Amino acid sequence: MTRTLHVSLGERAYDVVIGPGILARAGAEILPFLKRRRVAIVTDETVWAAHGDTLQAAMSAEGISTDIIRLPPGEETKSFASLEEVSDRLLALELDRGDLILAFGGGVIGDLAGFAAAIYKRGADFVQIPTTLLAQVDSSVGGKTAIDTPRGKNLIGAFHQPKRVLADTDLLSSLPDREVRAGFAEVIKYGLLGDRDFFDWLEVHTQAVLSRDPEALARAVARSVEMKAEIVVEDEKEAGRRALLNLGHTFGHALEVECGFGETLRHGEAVALGCAMAFRFSAHLGLCSGQDAHRVEAAIAGAGLPTRLADLDHPGFSTPALVRQMGQDKKAEGGRLTFILARAIGDAMVVRDVNPETLTQFLKTEGAT
Ligand code: NAD
Ligand code: GLY
Repeated sequence: MTRTLHVSLGERAYDVVIGPGILARAGAEILPFLKRRRVAIVTDETVWAAHGDTLQAAMSAEGISTDIIRLPPGEETKSFASLEEVSDRLLALELDRGDLILAFGGGVIGDLAGFAAAIYKRGADFVQIPTTLLAQVDSSVGGKTAIDTPRGKNLIGAFHQPKRVLADTDLLSSLPDREVRAGFAEVIKYGLLGDRDFFDWLEVHTQAVLSRDPEALARAVARSVEMKAEIVVEDEKEAGRRALLNLGHTFGHALEVECGFGETLRHGEAVALGCAMAFRFSAHLGLCSGQDAHRVEAAIAGAGLPTRLADLDHPGFSTPALVRQMGQDKKAEGGRLTFILARAIGDAMVVRDVNPETLTQFLKTEGAT
């Protein structure tokens, strides 16, 4: 069954269409946004090999011509070099500002292609066709686009909302189990930050979602998108409540940088470990109960995700390096350390001005040196 959720952002409003079989009708879904029947598709090689034929056929069915920009898979692709390559290819194709760009892939492609669209001739329209669980529940919705630099994640980017999001849950059948688990971390995040009932449901249905049971998957994706849409509508540019979506990210991003954005730690895994750490830090500060922190850790571990630094294949983390990274986080203002912490499961809050000494002490209890 298809569900359509609306992101009501005035003139930037759009629909998120969720369900099985949507890719096959992608041509019809994008027709309202085309000034002429031509699109550029930005994708990665793995996604294109698995699902490119279906997208190509969907475009041909509506007489839409396509140019394909294929990039290597992986976080390394969210770089200045790839941004230059995509921008140059779009220019070489002589795409107009009115032509549509399709971001067809996971969060890496969505963030990169979205950013390329944001700056192409000062702003071109784009549509997100997310192909990972993480991208369907989080990165394709809300208009955050960015690339990484060796100095940190997502530090160069723009807010640029898509014209439509087409989340075909059938595409997740080809996704490796590790990537499904990584996406599940962002799903748990929604329960942790604002919906205890959803967290309770996820605890019981973890294996159903991971094994891609259609009903469980549909509910997990739809509830996540619903929560994200509601928060984005209230606070599009992250002046306040949207920061809650970064639960687990201050720890997670610092760990990702230290691990070198590679295979050691996928983004979703970093978020999972970051959420477990955020709840333990909240308990350490006396904000939430140790019982809640234990329950969060058990739920995350139950999904086969890391909850402790020792779970990572890494020789060891230096406390000063982690604290320095956390000071670079986009939420930090005037060098003040900022975290999303929690009073309880389902009740997250922004905490500014965290004392570096307290953080250092906590990181040492976590096993950093
Ligand atoms: P990803 O895009 O690297 O995809 C993971 C892997 O799965 C890749 O190897 C890809 O080729 C493969 N893949 C994708 N779809 C597939 C499919 N259907 N079948 C088989 N293989 C498939 O990673 P991701 O986890 O989707 O996204 C992570 C990125 O998202 C990070 O860079 C993170 O910063 C970003 N992100 C952005 C936001 C946002 O709001 N913009 C939110 C969360 C995360
Ligand atoms: N993923 C965090 C946000 O979209 O705000």
